[in-house]
Amino acid sequence: MFGLNRAIKTAAALVATAAAAATALIAAPTALAAPQPIVGGTTTTTTAYPFMMQITDASQNQFCGGTLVSPTKVVTAAHCMVGESTGSVRVVGGRTYLNGTNGTVSRVSRIWINPGYTDATNGDDVAVLTLSTSMPYTTASYVSSAQTGVYAAGTTARVVGWGTTSENGSSSNQLRTATVPVVSDSSCRTSYGSDFVQTDMVCAGYTSGGVDTCQGDSGGPLLIGGVLAGITSWGEGCARAGYPGVYTRLTTFSNLVTAQVNA
Ligand code: ARG
Repeated sequence: MFGLNRAIKTAAALVATAAAAATALIAAPTALAAPQPIVGGTTTTTTAYPFMMQITDASQNQFCGGTLVSPTKVVTAAHCMVGESTGSVRVVGGRTYLNGTNGTVSRVSRIWINPGYTDATNGDDVAVLTLSTSMPYTTASYVSSAQTGVYAAGTTARVVGWGTTSENGSSSNQLRTATVPVVSDSSCRTSYGSDFVQTDMVCAGYTSGGVDTCQGDSGGPLLIGGVLAGITSWGEGCARAGYPGVYTRLTTFSNLVTAQVNA
């Protein structure tokens, strides 16, 4: 579930260096997005986002996020579940702080990983967990397969998670959220080349970087109009100029998810 550092790393470093140099030369870089959490953003709570679940190991150490879509079903990323078993994971709801002990802890009775999944950069990055204990929290709706218009470039999307607040930083003890604009498929293709699989992925972020999901946010929601429309999947570093976050394009997998929600 940790960041992808692939062939484009050198190019990314050059862009980052150029951006840093530009920042140094311009006293008031108003064109740059202000640093917020997740990377850039603000603190929030599971009261504000009741469907926001921690995916943890058996000791309740969080390693990914997930979204409650029915009292016993959680949508997360396939890459979060690779190597896991029903006994190795827990889902924790209603817990704003990573070091909290409150909320509801459930075991997992079934893990469905999209059978096409191989690697986040190949797409198919979706999984559905079935909980042994019902979560007493408001669920999120998710997009239908027909709602492909939600990804119009420039649309404001919201991300939520406990991930690191800088590329090589530490996780946030408190839940964080930020908004990021949806990026056009052609622009994302320019950033990521053939690693961007348009049918399975959607990108979001500012051209100048500064706000993004990061390590530990994976599996968590990309919300558009309050509806689950994407799953935090991958990116080149975090919040780098020219490298938006990449999210699972949930319209493509909506019917598969529904089959699991009803299973
Ligand atoms: N793969 C990461 C995780 O497992 C998420 C990375 C998201 N990266 C980004 N630049 N948006 O937590």
